[in-house]
Amino acid sequence: MRESDDANAFCVPRASFIRAMRMVASSVTVVTTDGPAGRFGATVSAFSSVSADPPTILVCLRAESRIAKAVARNGGLCVNVLPDDRQDIADRFAGLDDHRLADRFFGIDCRGGPGSPPEIDGATVFSGHVEQAVMSGSHRIFICRIRDVRESAARPLAYLDGSYHNVIPRGACGAGPCAGTA
Ligand SMILES: Cc1cc2nc3c(=O)[nH]c(=O)nc-3n(C[C@H](O)[C@H](O)[C@H](O)COP(=O)(O)O)c2cc1C
Repeated sequence: MRESDDANAFCVPRASFIRAMRMVASSVTVVTTDGPAGRFGATVSAFSSVSADPPTILVCLRAESRIAKAVARNGGLCVNVLPDDRQDIADRFAGLDDHRLADRFFGIDCRGGPGSPPEIDGATVFSGHVEQAVMSGSHRIFICRIRDVRESAARPLAYLDGSYHNVIPRGACGAGPCAGTA
């Protein structure tokens, strides 16, 4: 028996796990990095607060992706929580737009000088350095200390059951079904 078979022996079937995870709502972010490995960005929903003392977050990146390799080498990243009118940015940084641009940042307004991870205008941002990187299955978990934040008044773009959503407070839609699911 291979080690991976052994590891899966007590697990729920992969398809059941994925189906259940589709029902977990998350914010849509773009993780960016810059430094010796170059500038990269990718759309990421696996983002969570870890601790406020000290301010710490985590992101889970597919270990073989360019973004994971670049973050590991650059040692720093920025999590940009996208506003709900920027699905176009989410698609582009997931490689799902029509153009498949060589430079995903082309035409996107960002702050930050060379060597520091780009902060996307209009996003709520968490910027910091990698404190720990842990492999788990196909993904690498990056645990980061946060050095800088910037808040946006915009509502976040959400992802649920395979599509993008607007987050609307309960009671804000009146009696009819709410518009706003993309
Ligand atoms: C809504 C959404 C959420 C995603 N979340 C993640 C994630 O949490 N971690 C991850 O590694 N990839 C995630 N992806 C896939 C990456 O965005 C995609 O594979 C990207 O092209 C990786 O870029 P790279 O290969 O250039 O590094 C997500 C894609 C979408 C559309």
